[in-house]
Amino acid sequence: MKVTLWLVGVLALAGLARGYYLKQAEGVTENIPIFIKTLKELHRGPPKLAVPRANVKTEWITQKLDPFDSKEERTWQMRYMVNDEYFKPGGPMFIYVGGEWDIDPSGISGGIFVDLAKEHNGILFYTEHRYYGESKPTKDLQLENMKYLHVKQALADLAHFIEYKRETVSELANSKVIMAGGSYSASMVVWFKKLYPHLLNGGWASSAPLLAKVDFTEYMEVVGKAMRVLGSQQCYDRIQNGIAELEVMIRGKKSAQVKAMLKLCNNFNTNNDLDIWTMFSSFAYIFAGVVQYQRGDDVPAYCDYLMSFKDDVTALSNLWVWYYGYYGGCVDATYNGTLAYYLDTSYYYEWARPWYYQTCNEYGWYQTSGSKNQPFGSSFPVALSTELCRDAYDASYTDSKIQELINGTNEFFGGMKPDVENIYMTHGELDPWNPMGHGVAEGATIIPNASHCNDFGSISSSDSVEMRQSKESLTELVREWLRD
Ligand SMILES: *[C@@H]1O[C@H](CO)[C@@H](O)[C@H](O)[C@H]1NC(C)=O
Ligand SMILES: *[C@@H]1O[C@H](CO)[C@@H](O)[C@H](O)[C@H]1NC(C)=O
Ligand SMILES: *[C@@H]1O[C@H](CO)[C@@H](O)[C@H](O)[C@H]1NC(C)=O
Repeated sequence: MKVTLWLVGVLALAGLARGYYLKQAEGVTENIPIFIKTLKELHRGPPKLAVPRANVKTEWITQKLDPFDSKEERTWQMRYMVNDEYFKPGGPMFIYVGGEWDIDPSGISGGIFVDLAKEHNGILFYTEHRYYGESKPTKDLQLENMKYLHVKQALADLAHFIEYKRETVSELANSKVIMAGGSYSASMVVWFKKLYPHLLNGGWASSAPLLAKVDFTEYMEVVGKAMRVLGSQQCYDRIQNGIAELEVMIRGKKSAQVKAMLKLCNNFNTNNDLDIWTMFSSFAYIFAGVVQYQRGDDVPAYCDYLMSFKDDVTALSNLWVWYYGYYGGCVDATYNGTLAYYLDTSYYYEWARPWYYQTCNEYGWYQTSGSKNQPFGSSFPVALSTELCRDAYDASYTDSKIQELINGTNEFFGGMKPDVENIYMTHGELDPWNPMGHGVAEGATIIPNASHCNDFGSISSSDSVEMRQSKESLTELVREWLRD
């Protein structure tokens, strides 16, 4: 009975990523590069809470291709969604900011932000970020067409959105503005307040990374910690020992055995560092995918599974085959297979090429094996990620150029010291992103045991005491921000 329940739970979770690939891979049952497959799970935006409602409308607004070049006259259509069911003329705008994902009516159909809009007779908007979803400023993603992709451009789009609404909709002419965002779009809320303080009365940033950092070694530390705290020490040790053993095996006489156990395709080259790095990072991303959005018994379920095998390597290779061998056939863990997705200049693979471009130019945030305090070995150094910048875009992305660009982001927005008022920041204690954001000392609220963007739901009896307190604080702050 327990085993059956577990299968249902875990499949439902992994199903989110797989559903996407089924959509992409209609009829194709083999060899989806796995690195891509797991990363999708980490870029799907805050968890969807509510059933979409029929009365959420999709609309479009004309935006300038380059808001910073007065001579540039080309424009494009940005998508956004509207829910006006609680709106009374003069009420505030509640803008839920989209990040590197497709916006979806469920985002403004339910949850705490919708409850707040209802309390204040507000209108809800969900804005889409340029280059994601249906908001495509250029015909394709050739490198020269991506020069209009930068968070500064996306923030200018948001500013124009608010100004345009106030100018063209008389019922919004004097409306105050409240924003919310999760993950990258939470950073956008903070940075919007910094650049356009007069356009934003208050904002809520759930899980906002603020510090750009090339080698984001802390991420896997928190993934490991979550496996230990929510799973067990034995589970952590099993991962650590299993990975360590595989690292030795694949570089020695047992490399063929590893290839067979993990069902790697023939083109996987055990003498090629980039292939090996891609494989070990994909191992870690299985756990990252679980931890980043864990709820309930997700982590204990994975740990029970791992502990059900007789030894470490058997446990890990079974997990791998279960997770990646889903379609049957062989598992493509090659670097070149991954690269092909990032090289695709159509918008077909959605977030892959544009988001990675932003990381090379703006943030880094490469989740590497650079820390010793994590169980995933040492075989996915930052060199894997910076090599991908060069191979996917342009040889000019040297390590020092990437470092300079990332430094530029911190200088421009202030890194950990953005120096903004009226922004409420929340983080999950076991969210691997939280080391890049504010802690208690800087005034943020840290919710025990919670994961990434875990606090968008309505106040509910299943909330922990701290979760409930945080939502009540937010509710009180929004009242304050909207008081005349
Ligand atoms: C966090 O989860 C662990 C493991 O389930 C539990 O022992 C601990 O009490 C939880 N902490 C809080 C503050 O809820
Ligand atoms: C990856 O592709 C490049 C370019 O096609 C080729 O030169 C290289 O040998 C390939 N690497 C591997 C490990 O197959
Ligand atoms: C980037 O910033 C760090 C920390 O402020 C500094 O140590 C480093 O020299 C800078 N690197 C570059 C290339 O600007």
